[in-house]
Amino acid sequence: MIPTLAWTPEGVRFIDQTKLPLEESYVLATDYEQVADVIITMVVRGAPAIGVSAAYGIALGALRSKADSAERFAPEFDKIWARLAGTRPTAVNLFWAIDRMKRVFATLLSSGATMKTVQDKLLSEGHAMYEEDIAACKTMGAFGGALLPDEGGVLTHCNAGALATCGYGTALGVIRSAVELGKHIHVYADETRPFLQGARLTAWELMADGIPTTVICDNMAASLMRAGKIKAVVVGADRIAANGDFANKIGTYNVAILAKEHGIPFYCAAPWSTIDTATATGEAIPIEERAAKEVTHHGGKQLTPHGVGICNPAFDVTPAKYVSAIITERGVLRAPYAESLKQMELVAG
Ligand code: MRU
Repeated sequence: MIPTLAWTPEGVRFIDQTKLPLEESYVLATDYEQVADVIITMVVRGAPAIGVSAAYGIALGALRSKADSAERFAPEFDKIWARLAGTRPTAVNLFWAIDRMKRVFATLLSSGATMKTVQDKLLSEGHAMYEEDIAACKTMGAFGGALLPDEGGVLTHCNAGALATCGYGTALGVIRSAVELGKHIHVYADETRPFLQGARLTAWELMADGIPTTVICDNMAASLMRAGKIKAVVVGADRIAANGDFANKIGTYNVAILAKEHGIPFYCAAPWSTIDTATATGEAIPIEERAAKEVTHHGGKQLTPHGVGICNPAFDVTPAKYVSAIITERGVLRAPYAESLKQMELVAG
């Protein structure tokens, strides 16, 4: 399995996603500040992976603390989660994971727990999230794999794979599952400017699994669709609003419109931790703006003239009307999403 992130006795070990696919190297974060840096610099990225990284960051913060009780650790705990919460604004999994750690800590605080108990419980919550994430990917993979065609091209955008999760992936988990079912899928991976998650990461991990993959530039999808090469689209999500609108990597919205125009099913695969029913519609989802340099430069080389205006939103919002189904570990949701999301939340509790 691809070692996206792993807890070790020294700290959290991350595969350095800024170096892939040419170099397979690792970064060890030994304190929570380093975990925050690793998230900001996108050594680790992808909504579920960011969430679990933050949880482990909080556990590391507790392990490195000199406090001797939950009570004395409380001010530090607030500083730690606030630092991690300030890293990236769009993926709700980050805030979901931090809230979960806050709930664990609140119980420990009210019971007057020792620091040893705080450390143990926060770390075991991090481990639980890690395991649950892989299990959710496998389950949503099974639900989604059944929806994909028996053969043909499937387009994906960005990387919603093992590298964006603790393993297996969301959108790529759906593809992996379809392949395991014996379907003859050929993946078309949008290169995904400017960070090139598709060209670098999706291509790398699918090739490692021997799944036939072709990288295309982001502006090639329409003509491939018109040529009949794409039978379905499957993407991940960073935050799904209560009405089914969802944020995902910039360019996802373009693909959704193209899929609708060509009558191609467009699926969004995400764990329940990506669903944010407190956000009514996609318009309220905060969109991260990243450094201009990601657009102006590539591989250390400048591509654009000095001083030109640059716009670099990392995500866009796809309105629910373009989504054929949302695939989660709780099941496959169909429109109207406001109702199906609410119903599924009530059923699962
Ligand atoms: O900026 P990134 O690389 O963190 O963006 C990642 C995406 O947009 C993914 O598609 C999304 O997080 C889903 S990952 C299972």
